[in-house]
Formats: sequence, C-alpha cells, structure tokens
Amino acid sequence: MRLRREEAADVAAIRAVNLAAFPKPAEADLVDRLRGHVDPFISLVADDGGVAGHILFTPVHIGARTALALGPMAVLPARQRHGIGGKLIRAALDACLAAGHDLVFVLGHPEYYPRFGFKPTRPFGIRCEFEVPADVFMLAELRAGAAAGISGIVRYHDLFKAVDGS
Ligand SMILES: CC(C)(COP(=O)(O)OP(=O)(O)OC[C@H]1O[C@@H](n2cnc3c(N)ncnc32)[C@H](O)[C@@H]1OP(=O)(O)O)[C@@H](O)C(=O)NCCC(=O)NCCS
Repeated sequence: MRLRREEAADVAAIRAVNLAAFPKPAEADLVDRLRGHVDPFISLVADDGGVAGHILFTPVHIGARTALALGPMAVLPARQRHGIGGKLIRAALDACLAAGHDLVFVLGHPEYYPRFGFKPTRPFGIRCEFEVPADVFMLAELRAGAAAGISGIVRYHDLFKAVDGS
C-alpha cells in the first residue's frame, strides 16, 4: 500500500472511490470542483495497484488566519475497517505539516478522529460556520500550541455550502 499525492491519472479513480463510499455524489462532485479552485489542495491516495482510499485537505479561514480542513475522505466500502483510513490520515497530516500547515479542522465522526489527535474546538472558542453538533467539529494541532490565541468562526470555501453532511 503506497500513500502518495494524487496525480493527474488518479482523478477518475478518486471520483469512483468517493462515489462508492458516500450515499450521494455530492462529495465526489465537491472533490472535482475544488480541484483547480483552491490552494492548497492536498490530496493523497492509498494505492495498492488501484486507488483504495482518498483524503483531501483544503483551506479554511478563521479571522485573518488560514488553516486546513480535512475532507472529504473515503475508502472503498469493501476495503473499510482494515486500517487504510487511519494510514491515510497519519500520512496526510505529516504531509500537511511538511507543507507548513500546523492547524487542521475536521467535520466528522467524533468516535473516529480523536484517535488521530483531533479534539473538539469548543474549548478553544472556535466554532464552525455550519450548524452542526459541537462534538463533530474538531481540530488537530500539528505543532504544540498551534491553536493558541485563535478563536471565532471557521469559514469553508463556498463550494462546501452546497454539500450536506460531508
Ligand atoms: C470513515 C472512513 C474513511 C474510514 O476508513 P477505514 O479505512 O474504514 O478506517 P480504518 O480502518 O482506519 O478505521 C476503522 C475505524 O473507523 C471507524 N469508522 C468507520 N466508519 C465509521 C463511521 N461511519 N462512524 C464512526 N466510526 C467509523 C470505526 O471506529 C473503525 O474502527 P473499528 O473497526 O475498530 O470499529 C471509511 O469508513 C469511509 O469511507 N466511510 C464512508 C465515507 C465517510 O463517512 N467519510 C468520512 C466523512 S467525515
């Protein structure tokens, strides 16, 4: 299993993974629309001869600060619960830090992401611009203290506003 940045030849396979993993095409469409529209666009695949999993990070804004948001991420249904998602998250967070980003937000399963260092944003006085339960909005500090002194509302790219529950 190779964990690597997406390449041009992966675009169709990434779409197929997102279509298979999510009940609606919204997330697959979102990935395709964000590509080319946002910078950074940190997109990794889990490749074992085909794309089995995908993870994406794009910019969000909190006040004057730019951070990253994780999502969508997806693993082919037949390959889920075998550690691919976890490997992707760990490799991708390392890639984000190497690219100079130390603060990552995620809107997602509160039972899943804490094992990778994510914690609720509420104690930081940080909330999501979307109406979501507090425990599903989390942040990871890739460097100690990365969220210190930051508070307010995290704003996503407009393309996310058309998606429910990503
Ligand atoms: C979430 C997802 C990417 C995880 O990938 P994965 O390769 O299955 O993850 P791992 O094998 O590393 O970890 C498995 C763990 O994920 C957790 N998990 C998987 N799907 C979950 C879900 N829908 N809700 C809560 N936890 C979930 C479980 O705790 C599981 O641990 P367990 O097997 O000990 O119970 C994958 O399940 C997926 O593509 N789901 C559909 C799309 C999706 O929901 N994406 C996330 C949007 S925030």
